[in-house]
Amino acid sequence: MRATIRDATMTTPTMTDPAADPSARQASEAPPAGATLPPRPLVRSANAPGTGTAGRETDGTPGRPAVDLSDVSVYYGAFRAVRDVSFSVPTHAITALIGPSGSGKSTLLRAINRMNDLTPGSRLEGEVRYHGKNLYASDVDPVEVRRRIGMVFQKPNPFPKSIYDNVAFGPRINGYRGNLDDLVERSLRQAALWNEVKDKLKQSGLALSGGQQQRLCIARTIAVEPEIILMDEPASALDPRSTLQIEELMAELKENYTIVIVTHNMQQAARASDRTVFLNMGEDRAGYVVEVDETVKIFTNPREQLTEDYISGRFG
Ligand SMILES: Nc1ncnc2c1ncn2[C@@H]1O[C@H](COP(=O)(O)OP(=O)(O)OP(=O)(O)O)[C@@H](O)[C@H]1O
Ligand SMILES: [Mg+2]
Repeated sequence: MRATIRDATMTTPTMTDPAADPSARQASEAPPAGATLPPRPLVRSANAPGTGTAGRETDGTPGRPAVDLSDVSVYYGAFRAVRDVSFSVPTHAITALIGPSGSGKSTLLRAINRMNDLTPGSRLEGEVRYHGKNLYASDVDPVEVRRRIGMVFQKPNPFPKSIYDNVAFGPRINGYRGNLDDLVERSLRQAALWNEVKDKLKQSGLALSGGQQQRLCIARTIAVEPEIILMDEPASALDPRSTLQIEELMAELKENYTIVIVTHNMQQAARASDRTVFLNMGEDRAGYVVEVDETVKIFTNPREQLTEDYISGRFG
């Protein structure tokens, strides 16, 4: 099954607490791909919604990156957290963001689905293009952005609902008219969790182990079939076995999705990603890109001494 460019979800009540924000809340109310609901356009227009134009305006040229950041700076009030960041995110690949604490990895990840908008006082300069379309253009619907670009967080955060209802949550709110049982099963299979939970779908998601909870959150995210999945240290709270499971899962998911992962774990970045963006923090405390390259190049023959020092554990 191939994901289409529409309808991501952002189903997390933590971090910037989108659950408390109505616009974020709506993000999990998107119709899933394959649903019988019409797709919604990314760009607001005077035309009636649901005319089947979603995706078309962002289809772009084949081979074009899914996301392109150019000269992106993000501010929290007067503080510039990242400066002049440029890199691109290739489709159907895993891009890792690495760098010391405070270098702006999470900030940049949140810039990709406009989640920083939910932080009062945050502001972005530069451009984040999604299939060529500037995501911060005034005609772009940020709720739709978050539908198409889903997010998984460091700490697994299932809803206090059954396993089934966790996965069915987004599709249900959208009035999904396909076979919900099939959708739940497919999502759980894609998240490599089905075999472990198929006999206890009515049990609470909170009763699962940490690693299972994180896979449940991944299932919940992909139940509405985003094109891109952003993961902020998705395995850092997990044991080594669960961590490896998440890494294996990411390798499977990239067949259908484009993934951007933040990780502190150098082995994980080296093992799991195709492309690596190394960020460092300047004297002004703003994060900046030191080097972007194929992961194998970054970890075997980086261009910059700073990269070499970081990946070999000499700082950070
Ligand atoms: N909501 C916020 N308000 C103000 N400053 C913030 C906010 N979020 C992050 N920052 C600041 O922006 C900078 C980058 O933070 P960010 O969380 O993106 O870094 P990070 O690389 O993800 O760090 P870590 O590895 O510790 O998770 C830091 O100086 C941080 O203090
Ligand atoms: Mg972070």
